[in-house]
Amino acid sequence: METTKIAAAIPTAARVHRFTYAIRNIVAEAQRVEAAGTRVRYLNIGDPVAFGFKTPPHLIAAVERAMRDGHNNYGPSAGIAVARDAVAAEYTSKGFPVSSDRVFITAGTSEGIELALSALVDDGGEVLVPMPTYPLYTAVLAKLNARANYYRLDSERNWLPDLDQLKKLVTPATRALVLIDPNNPTGAVYPTDVRRQLIAFAEEHGVVILADEVYGDLGFDGPVEPLGLLDPDAAIISFSSLSKAYLAPGWRTGWMAIGRSPRLDPIVAAVKKLADGRLCSTVPMQYAVAEALNGDRSHQIGFRRDLKARSDLTLRRVRAMPGVTCVEPSAAFYAMPRVALPPGRTDEEFVKALLHATGVLCVYGSGFGLPAEQGFLRIVFLAPLDELSEIYDLMAGFTASYLA
Ligand SMILES: Cc1ncc(COP(=O)(O)O)c(C=O)c1O
Repeated sequence: METTKIAAAIPTAARVHRFTYAIRNIVAEAQRVEAAGTRVRYLNIGDPVAFGFKTPPHLIAAVERAMRDGHNNYGPSAGIAVARDAVAAEYTSKGFPVSSDRVFITAGTSEGIELALSALVDDGGEVLVPMPTYPLYTAVLAKLNARANYYRLDSERNWLPDLDQLKKLVTPATRALVLIDPNNPTGAVYPTDVRRQLIAFAEEHGVVILADEVYGDLGFDGPVEPLGLLDPDAAIISFSSLSKAYLAPGWRTGWMAIGRSPRLDPIVAAVKKLADGRLCSTVPMQYAVAEALNGDRSHQIGFRRDLKARSDLTLRRVRAMPGVTCVEPSAAFYAMPRVALPPGRTDEEFVKALLHATGVLCVYGSGFGLPAEQGFLRIVFLAPLDELSEIYDLMAGFTASYLA
């Protein structure tokens, strides 16, 4: 039988067209610049290991040991007991009581978020998402055919959520409120009174809070308390991982902790059901979770100090560029400067022009949901201080000529 020779490309699903992920999408452009012979400085991805920060040896030893001890089988879909117990004990000791049977070990914060949103939100359902946002939320909601309702983080007020606007956005279809605190991309940490108001708002409207706390240990002044401690009976689900504060992003190991409110019981059952479908997260890496949470965390002291020094340098250098403003970050490794663009120009044009002229790769604010004409861009400031300094020399020169 002769095979058909139809030239047309195989069509892909419509959801792919709705799905964008600026942090990685812009890399294709950078690779073209690199192929043309320019050295590219990748300031787009928040991966501390890629910038020379080392995974703590006792965590590597735990994974190695697990592999040698033969823990290379499938594990329980919710995670191994020692890891779940360690996560539950960690939250409980910080004042957010969580039981082990409400903890799931996931492939990073990312999978936890995807599982929770899949368990919570139907086709056409709505989720309150910050703007700017970490783009995973928008991407997952696009896949679920659900709707992100963006609430404003106000750059004029240290990037705090605009509560008045939030109240106007909630509808009967709203299922969840996403809080990223400490925040990517802004570096903000929300003060306690703001956190309390956000919980009160969510409780009043019967909306579950998805608390993305992946940067919780990376406040420059020390660890930031989990949101759930302010009201352990509120409908709060917390997410975190080994990726940032434990310097192992490639292990894809994280967790979600579902608060004790009985209103969340159906979510626990739904997440379990969905988690069964993907068998388990990587088993040897799960053995590092208890080691991380119960063991030596002294690496975090130096890490926080290094981040603060990089943040200070970034702020000083960026603020010295005419036409550029920047809110001071309080945690994590991101700064979100704003360039006063000439009328008609977009943040994406600016970022691409910067890339082509200097090899410096940032992510444009519109990739995080901000209006393109506002001229925001996100810098990942994980590079060593001397390299950051060189990078800011390049940026300063370029920005001066772009705005001239
Ligand atoms: C706010 C936020 N949430 C989640 C993630 C994903 O982290 P993980 O590696 O734990 O999936 C990131 C990574 O940059 C992030 O910034």
